[in-house]
Amino acid sequence: MTLNRLLIGGALALCAAACSPAPDATAPDVARGERPAPIPTGPDPHSYANHDAVAIDHMTLDLDVDLRRRVLDGFVVLDLERIEGAAAERLVLDTRQLEIRDVNRVLDDDALEPLSWRLGEGDPDQPWLGRPLVVALPGGADRVRIDYSTTPEAYGLQWLDGRQTLSGRPFLFSQSQPIFARTWVPLQDTPGVRYTFDATVRVPRGLIAVMGAGGNPTEPAADGTYTFTMPQPIPSYLMAIAVGELEFREIGPRSGVYAEPSRLEAAAYEFGELEEMIDVGEALYGDYRWDRYDLLILPPSFPFGGMENPRLSFITPTVIAGDRSLTALIAHELAHSWSGNLVTNAAWRDLWLNEGFTTYFESRIVENLYGTRRKDMEGTLDFENLKAQLEELSDAEQVLARDLVGQDPEASFTGIPYDKGRLFLQWLEARVGREAFDAFLTDYFDHFAFESIDTEDFLAYLDTTLLAEHGERVTKAELEEWIYAPGLPDDAVIPQSDAFEIVNDYRRQWLAGEIELADIPTADWTVSEWRRFLLGLGDVLTLEQMAELDAAYDLTGSGNVEILYLWLVRAIETRYEPGLERLESFLVDVGRNKFTRPLYEELAATDWGRDRAIEIYQRARPRYHPMTRAAAERALGIDG
Ligand code: BES
Ligand code: ZN
Repeated sequence: MTLNRLLIGGALALCAAACSPAPDATAPDVARGERPAPIPTGPDPHSYANHDAVAIDHMTLDLDVDLRRRVLDGFVVLDLERIEGAAAERLVLDTRQLEIRDVNRVLDDDALEPLSWRLGEGDPDQPWLGRPLVVALPGGADRVRIDYSTTPEAYGLQWLDGRQTLSGRPFLFSQSQPIFARTWVPLQDTPGVRYTFDATVRVPRGLIAVMGAGGNPTEPAADGTYTFTMPQPIPSYLMAIAVGELEFREIGPRSGVYAEPSRLEAAAYEFGELEEMIDVGEALYGDYRWDRYDLLILPPSFPFGGMENPRLSFITPTVIAGDRSLTALIAHELAHSWSGNLVTNAAWRDLWLNEGFTTYFESRIVENLYGTRRKDMEGTLDFENLKAQLEELSDAEQVLARDLVGQDPEASFTGIPYDKGRLFLQWLEARVGREAFDAFLTDYFDHFAFESIDTEDFLAYLDTTLLAEHGERVTKAELEEWIYAPGLPDDAVIPQSDAFEIVNDYRRQWLAGEIELADIPTADWTVSEWRRFLLGLGDVLTLEQMAELDAAYDLTGSGNVEILYLWLVRAIETRYEPGLERLESFLVDVGRNKFTRPLYEELAATDWGRDRAIEIYQRARPRYHPMTRAAAERALGIDG
């Protein structure tokens, strides 16, 4: 392969023979050891994209899914919009772990014309950013086609082989948030850019491809080719694809669930209230603007509880408890259809606009569907968790609008954007009254629909709307404390639950030997009451008490993952062998980071468990998502 030297934006580049040379006498001389200037990030510190000059307006994806080689192979065509007043001489895209083959301009007659391009060096201090793809844009060029393939290590994709699924067929799913879309599509990977797209995806016969888009199939296509369209503009972190042996079951006129066949029945029951949930969401804050809302139940290695991919939330199977007790997670992902997907944080600094609003909205759905008692219990547990995190996090990390320059955006997903964000909105609600606050939120979602906004846009809007009428009830200093100061303001509205007082009393009495387990009326306990009970048993139990609890409640055999998780933590603390055996099978099966990471941490922190933890990890690793692997390896202090 001949290499041409070319200059883009003042920096020297190398490219394959196909790209056109752009020689320049002032270019640095590689032979003399001069290096091209590093490409700076754009307006978003987590993206190289220069979207203040030129932005993706529409995308056409064309991909072959090779489940054996674990690569996506094909091309993307980007329709570009030049921003008025900005002279865009180049297009800078985000890539990571991609192999770029060719970059062409698409002419009006669809003919291709080679463009100059190069992959810039990444920033060694910020490896998560990947490498900028710099494309020289001749005047008038507004369609660019990039031919590329992904690599098997792509951080945003998980490939499972047939031994790792229920159906025995291979599986693929993506996880793009926050900045992993760039590991499977070269694009402007910032929530500050929105675009529509269409896609063609080819998969092996008998498998189904689905996307966070319109056009999801309900039956396998005879030729394995699927096409999708997304008419509503979305940010890149919502790009989503999955492939597997999937079946579909309708729940309501605009809702349903996809799962591997043997999980479909249980999933359809568990999420049978989905259509009602959408109705509740609409009654609260206005129309659902995405046409359909379906769930995709993933294999247990899915690293999150849920991911709000538009029209098709991706959901862990671990919330299938058999009794619809963990459906707040669905309420959460559904709520993102307004807070996050409709009105989007412009950068990860403003994450609380997505997650805080969603956590608040989630609690309102839970209240509507299941009542205040359940909402208060779940809110109280979240608050207790937030309090514990406030003890650990630095001041800078406790701020809602958190400066993330130079940091991995994954670090921003703490309880702060979620639970402090929610408390802020609850406080605003308390100040102005629920009626005024709900009307405000409905208008807010409508006003900023399909836009990406930052914290200050929200504050400015708040000022001219809600506060124009209720200004005397809220001061600027109070708002600024919530948004820009660490900790919680003194007058935060703290969630409380009477039910927990009762649970706490029973636990105290049992520990004091005043009552027997049989005296505790657990028959009607909700998951939250069990969680409160088990949380209060931290570091106090003897092995005999563990056995007694297990004999009374079969906690080792619990089918509820939230209860099981806390029980497994107690098993590690007490070195309770039946629990530890269950822990092993759990860790080998489940890659949901919320559970796996702390379980590995707890186990590795004991004086007897570290080797055992590493041994389990080595066995479990092939099933884990790259994210779960990275977190587990950090917890264990080992190098992949
Ligand atoms: N958007 C998040 C998922 C996410 C988190 C993606 C961090 C990338 C980084 C999703 O909406 C979420 O918050 N999921 C939670 C569940 C929720 C009920 C708190 C989860 O997965 O645990
Ligand atoms: Zn969320």
